[in-house]
Amino acid sequence: MRKLLILLLTVFLVVSNGIQAQTSQEDYQKKMEWWRDAKFGMFVHWGPYCLYGGMYNGFQQKRGGAEWIMNRCKIPVLEYRAKASTFNPTKFDAEKLVKLAQDAGMKYIVFTSKHHDGFAMFKSEASNFNIVDYTPFKRDILKELADACRKNNMKLGFYYSQSQDWCNPGGDTHRRPMNQGWPNPDSTQIDRYTATHDGSWDCMQQSVSFDEYFYKVSLPQIKEILQNYGDVAVIWWDTPGKRITGKHVADIMEVVKKHPNIIMNDRLIRPSNTVGDYKTPEGLVPKISDVEGVDWETCMTIGSSWGYKSYEKNWKSQETLIRNLITIASRGGNFLLNVGPNPEGLVSQEETERLQIMGKWLQTNGEAIYGTQRSSIYPKWGQCIRKDNKKNSILYLCVFDWPKDSKLILEAQYKIKGASLLSDGSKLKTEATKNGIVIQLPAEAPDKIASVVKLELKEKLPPVKLASNSAKSKTFDIVDEK
Ligand code: GLC
Repeated sequence: MRKLLILLLTVFLVVSNGIQAQTSQEDYQKKMEWWRDAKFGMFVHWGPYCLYGGMYNGFQQKRGGAEWIMNRCKIPVLEYRAKASTFNPTKFDAEKLVKLAQDAGMKYIVFTSKHHDGFAMFKSEASNFNIVDYTPFKRDILKELADACRKNNMKLGFYYSQSQDWCNPGGDTHRRPMNQGWPNPDSTQIDRYTATHDGSWDCMQQSVSFDEYFYKVSLPQIKEILQNYGDVAVIWWDTPGKRITGKHVADIMEVVKKHPNIIMNDRLIRPSNTVGDYKTPEGLVPKISDVEGVDWETCMTIGSSWGYKSYEKNWKSQETLIRNLITIASRGGNFLLNVGPNPEGLVSQEETERLQIMGKWLQTNGEAIYGTQRSSIYPKWGQCIRKDNKKNSILYLCVFDWPKDSKLILEAQYKIKGASLLSDGSKLKTEATKNGIVIQLPAEAPDKIASVVKLELKEKLPPVKLASNSAKSKTFDIVDEK
């Protein structure tokens, strides 16, 4: 009898663990679903660093994004804080920012709630160095943005620099040599100081321990941004550095666990394979082999800086941006494209125009992007993106190089239900040959940047297994950390 009871109990435990694992796996896939379908989001880097626009003492900062100006140029804490106290972006309109994202075809926004400078773009009880208590502006940007996103059905996430903080005492300060800033006549002494003071350049930065900073500012602010602004869809950590430890991460995860649907990137702690839902290749479209089987998101600027740079000239073309979006989707990733509002709270004309053109392209071709997955087919003439229906799969052939003889060859032997041009729905003839499927195209490409052929298969392709972050998958560099 006793043996039977033990056997029944063992069976019960194994089955319930199995069900638990199954449901938690199902819950996990459900959590990731909207994010995987969304494909395209807006990154917003905005804070008092925009007041400098990448310039200090008449010099353009030598290296890095303009959001790093305080560190690159070794601006003293009290000087930076005084500058931040003048921040008054009266033209900021959260509704307009959300509409810009929506018109671009973006499905989520990730906003810098606190960047490395330590300035909170929200009312914080943990530090008065925030937009409500420290500036004449006095409005809670996160609240206005959260309200506008909720009203317009836009998912909202927050970027939070959990370890670096250059203005709240005790925050981490990653060392950058003075030659990346401006030709300060005291550069040699400053470099000597930062080399022997963990990267800090101002004695105020080390007046308390990192631990004290973490439990007085970082952890309380993480609670504030996750609890005070409604449903937060994504939390975007950055530059974890060496001072954040497993203990700090465990305490952060205790807070995050209260929000079971929140999606996290892989920058809470490095090596990143221990925490996070997706990889974060920065400023590049990763190699196919580097993103096999994992969730990932390329974050990228439209110019050359995350934060507003007053002299920006290096704007990416809309061809580059649209083809990046397509290539990223064909490899199973998301594209988080950045805007950096200026001191008045306005997004530049150059960023606005490019986003509007991307939105126009997506109005015609969005079904080839949203709700799709990697196809594992990589043609020479462009990209191939896959979408599964209940009974069959669809391949979206995004043609960059329109064939001169109007014959598009997909080197595959699928049974075809039909083919059409996405731009106008016109039917296209297909022929199965030993070289693959030949699709007869019109002489002219409907869209010079990328024209899409919708190829409906009779069959459903085998499922692509997705593993979440794991030790075997590549960890991508955090660019400014090099
Ligand atoms: C790097 C930069 C940081 C920026 C981030 C965005 O970590 O240090 O300024 O916010 O990239 O990916």
